[in-house]
Amino acid sequence: MERKVYFDNAATTPIRKEVIDLIHKTLSDTFGNPSSTHSFGRSARTQIETSRKSIAKHFNADPQEIIFTSGGTESDNMLLRCAVQDLNVKTIITSKIEHHAILHAVEFLDENRLAKVSYVKTDAEGFVDFEDLEKHLKADKTKKLVSLMHINNEIGNILDLDRVSKLCQENDALFHTDAVQGVGHYAIDLEKVKIDFLSAAAHKFHGPKGVGFSFVRKNSGLNPFIVGGSQERGLRAGTESVHNILGMAKALEIAYNKIEEEQKYLKELKVYAIEQFSATFPGIHFNGCCSDLDRSTCTLINVSLPVPEDKATLLNFHLDLKGIACSKGSACQSGSVKGSHVLEEVVPLSHKNNPSIRFSFSIFNTKDEIDYLIKTLDSFVKE
Ligand SMILES: Cc1ncc(COP(=O)(O)O)c(C=O)c1O
Repeated sequence: MERKVYFDNAATTPIRKEVIDLIHKTLSDTFGNPSSTHSFGRSARTQIETSRKSIAKHFNADPQEIIFTSGGTESDNMLLRCAVQDLNVKTIITSKIEHHAILHAVEFLDENRLAKVSYVKTDAEGFVDFEDLEKHLKADKTKKLVSLMHINNEIGNILDLDRVSKLCQENDALFHTDAVQGVGHYAIDLEKVKIDFLSAAAHKFHGPKGVGFSFVRKNSGLNPFIVGGSQERGLRAGTESVHNILGMAKALEIAYNKIEEEQKYLKELKVYAIEQFSATFPGIHFNGCCSDLDRSTCTLINVSLPVPEDKATLLNFHLDLKGIACSKGSACQSGSVKGSHVLEEVVPLSHKNNPSIRFSFSIFNTKDEIDYLIKTLDSFVKE
């Protein structure tokens, strides 16, 4: 039987068995509409509110600060648009290496003259230039919102949330972070770190797809994003996806209960992958700051491989043929191919013609799978 290896966990993660079991049970036992006042509805409502409390607890947040959404994209759109519409935000400061859910949302706001967008500089490794951020924050007197992602989904850099939040406070700016790649993998204490808004998605931490949440700090002044019923304190109308919300809370509970053990496992796996890649492909370049495990997520590596140009185009096809799932990206080559906007910023000129691939890990991956990957790549390059 053909071997299947899944190294695309930054795209989505497999759902934990305990989560699937709970979703099944909820689908059959808790089908009432949470807005109904009879016992079926009340039961669903109680379970949703228990989930909200459980999620809030992991972040030292108040349950009413957790607003359920359909996932990362919706949370990002909701928070940016509402901040502009309701909080008099005139300038959004972000970076060029955010997820498209942010970049396209801010472009929309800019094009429609709802807010001005300015992009903070990032350095050669893809880290925010804090001096430049401060300049942007002090540029004029308009109300500002900084939106910077916690963990970059392509290269894995970890943002110093505390440092950004302090700068925002000092300059009376709001701070939103797209924490879609961080939640469930890294602890975030929202009591200590003054983040105003945060986006998360369950399918990145072994939960179901199509559900996530926005953290909206108390008394933020946001008005409804989706109008209709009065669900989610009126901010996001629509019948709640009860089974998904319960599944998300369960996935998060397991993730944070096991965070130390799982981070340790993933760090070892990542270090092993870096060692094997370096030993087998001497000309390799790791994009971002891969080997610094304090500043780079343990869940992924992004490599530019020294592969001859004629083979580069076949590389992903070959990996797929061998049952290996990963994510390709490329820095835009000679302007002809639309490459990754993130790699465009960080891949050095000397590697711009090499294929870049993201391998993203979960606790379900093993060193043996990394050996298989390296062997497959090596024989393909040498063939
Ligand atoms: C950093 C980041 N933000 C936002 C999203 C979008 O999340 P969703 O797929 O839940 O809409 C993703 C998904 O890849 C992501 O990695």
